Amino acid sequence: MDKIEFDDSKYDLKSLLDAKHPFLEKMRERAPGTYKHSQNVASLCESVALELDIDQNMMRVLGMYHDAGKVTFPECFYENQNGSGNMHDKLNPLVSFHLISKHVSDSALILVQLDDFPNELIEPITQHHGNTVLKSLALKADGVEEDFFRYKNTCPPTTLEAAILMICDSIDAIIRSKESNDKIDIDDIREIIRNTIERLEGDDQLDEIRVGDLKKIKKALQRDLESKYHKRSAADYEEDDDKKVKDLKK
Ligand SMILES: [Fe+2]
Ligand SMILES: [Fe+2]
Repeated sequence: MDKIEFDDSKYDLKSLLDAKHPFLEKMRERAPGTYKHSQNVASLCESVALELDIDQNMMRVLGMYHDAGKVTFPECFYENQNGSGNMHDKLNPLVSFHLISKHVSDSALILVQLDDFPNELIEPITQHHGNTVLKSLALKADGVEEDFFRYKNTCPPTTLEAAILMICDSIDAIIRSKESNDKIDIDDIREIIRNTIERLEGDDQLDEIRVGDLKKIKKALQRDLESKYHKRSAADYEEDDDKKVKDLKK
């Protein structure tokens, strides 16, 4: 599978990654949930880039800007709904599909207008959902073919970087949806990584990727997320201990 031909000396990727970049400030303000998700995806992309010897800043930029289009209608997306209710509860799933899937072309539209954004990175961003199915909507719509709810984008992704972005994006989305219901541990993380990759493979989204590269991607994701969740559960224990001590002192 080809890598993106990219000369990072032509661009100032550090300024694109600076939290004070005007577009990132806009995203943080208008779509805080998407901003957080993008930070998580960028961090996963960076870990994978390190393992595969890919430009780490370029991968972080892909992660940080992949959902840029969501700023045009932030409340349409689960991560920005924060107790304000889910607008899709009242909508026909066919309408919801158009509103949600549009964020991919909106991202391209926004990024071509950002003077400092590398043109070469727009295509992998347009491929980050491949032609996967928007499952939650497909399940809601009775009697409509599941294929209707497929994103209308290139499948499989044409570059290694686009495939990595797709995997990291799907994994963070699953972690966030599971975390909103329950605490998750290292075993859950392993299962999420395995299931997500198997699901994408089963849907032909990763047909072009080399087996060796996929192994390295899994390894990097496991290392990154296991250390994060290990630290988190250690912090939970400390919190529990502190609480017990406080309760004893009462
Ligand atoms: Fe997306
Ligand atoms: Fe995303």
